[in-house]
Amino acid sequence: MARVLITSALPYINGVKHLGNLAGSMLPADVYARFNRLMGHETLFICATDEHGTPAELAAAEAGQSVADYCAEQHQIQARIAEGFALSFDWFGRSSSLANRELTQHFADRLEDAGLIEERTSRQVYSIDDNRFLPDRYVEGTCPHCGFEKARGDQCDNCGRLLDPVDLINPYSAVSGSRRVEIRDTQHLYLRQSEMQDRIRAWVDSRSADWPQLTSSIAYKWLDEGLQDRSITRDLSWGVPVTRKGAPRPGFETKVFYVWFDAPVEYIGATREWSEATGGDWRRWWRTDGGADDVTYVEFMGKDNVAFHTVSFPATILGSGEPWKMVDKLKAFNWLTWYGGKFSTSNKRGVFMDAALELLPADYWRWYLTANAPEGSDSPFTWEAFQASINSDLANVLGNFVNRITKYAESKFAGKVPVDGEAGEDEAWMVRELETRLPLLIAHYEAMEFRKAAAETRAIWAAGNEYLTRAAPWVKYKTSVEAAAVGTRTGLNLAALFGILAQPIIPGAARTILDALGVPEANRSFALMRPGQDHAGLLDVLPRGMSFSPPPVLFAKIEDAKVAEWTARFGGG
Ligand code: MF3
Ligand code: ZN
Repeated sequence: MARVLITSALPYINGVKHLGNLAGSMLPADVYARFNRLMGHETLFICATDEHGTPAELAAAEAGQSVADYCAEQHQIQARIAEGFALSFDWFGRSSSLANRELTQHFADRLEDAGLIEERTSRQVYSIDDNRFLPDRYVEGTCPHCGFEKARGDQCDNCGRLLDPVDLINPYSAVSGSRRVEIRDTQHLYLRQSEMQDRIRAWVDSRSADWPQLTSSIAYKWLDEGLQDRSITRDLSWGVPVTRKGAPRPGFETKVFYVWFDAPVEYIGATREWSEATGGDWRRWWRTDGGADDVTYVEFMGKDNVAFHTVSFPATILGSGEPWKMVDKLKAFNWLTWYGGKFSTSNKRGVFMDAALELLPADYWRWYLTANAPEGSDSPFTWEAFQASINSDLANVLGNFVNRITKYAESKFAGKVPVDGEAGEDEAWMVRELETRLPLLIAHYEAMEFRKAAAETRAIWAAGNEYLTRAAPWVKYKTSVEAAAVGTRTGLNLAALFGILAQPIIPGAARTILDALGVPEANRSFALMRPGQDHAGLLDVLPRGMSFSPPPVLFAKIEDAKVAEWTARFGGG
């Protein structure tokens, strides 16, 4: 049995995320975690809220709350929404946890012991009216590259370039709006990534064969440009305090570690939170001297996060000189766009996760966002494509199949799995379809090709519809009840199989189908799908003669009127 550790990029705490954040990390990570559990692998799926940094402080100030209260509340909100989307985290932690604080401080100590951290004097923007330094997003101004006038200190939203706040033209404070700012000297800790260039490249070389092109090209771009030493502390009060061997570090009493230093450490921190809460053993997942040698570690994230996960976080881990588990496979996503453009709350463009759940159950969104995952390129969300996909794939191809065959068995075979008759030509055709398609489906999941996995799932449902057209029990019934019994029994078994196959992507509807057909939990795994299995047996799994009750209608079609209403409310083409 394999052991698989899965992490999703940690959603930032400053408010409810939109569908793009769901589609580009949390949802595919969940689909993959569910797939691995169904394959019988020991799976640990970890996520958390990323709670430090200037955006959290700014959002708290805007909400009129202390940053601690704000984060606690927003964490609860995000946890509830994640549950609503059936994201099956084994633990949903908080980067502000004590576990993460201890680990972050530990890594800093180890790096400093290894000579990889040094104190340097740097020039920072200081606000005279606010009486403080202005790190990252606390300062805004004109982008030196593209002239955009509302560039944030850490990054320009217009041209996407990473910025140093002191390079902004006409800087002003994002706290007070004051333009009375000046450049002053201050001390910060720097991680000497330039020193580690060769080690990181050697590590990337050793792993990148297993990474998709999008991932390795970003890693090599950074390495080829040459790694820069980076400052890992900030002038803020909310964050992991800067210590040295357990004591406050002189001169750093008003500083904390930079959010991008402590956030990825929270993958480990959250696993420790999980251990503490459940009695699990986090070392078995994270320390190669503690049993993690046989773990496959898989990370999911949007493409903007790749450099941090292929270069910066590995620098922290490698530099510690300790035997930590490092990432094996890294799945990165492009952007889900809103009709080709950006999601934006202020411009009422796009659906956020809380609003989505008020419109429709999670399965509808999970299906569309998986079948249209932004894998090879950016991919647009449109109401029209969403409607078409739901009405065709879920309502027609899957939903009608299940409802039609179960209703038919109810009316003609007394709500029981028919007993008589044996498989013939049509059933042999269906078995051949499964023999070709099931291994492909498994291979797509293993390769983390989620669009292809959804397409193959749908193709299997469609083959089932074609089988019913061929077998046509409703026609045969008139001349041979026994022939109709074979078609009905096979159809019911297909419905059960479709429920099993649907579990990673649409777990809610899958459960409804499997519960209705009385499939015991133990028989819901993908074990039967393994190569070398007897596929004919799949069509005769339900006990003959067993009673069942048809499930309720699984999916409602989305009417044109709804599309018009949602377009007006959330924006459209
Ligand atoms: N919060 C970051 C973002 O939304 C992702 C952090 S991933 C982590 O882009 F690993 F660093 F936590
Ligand atoms: Zn710019």
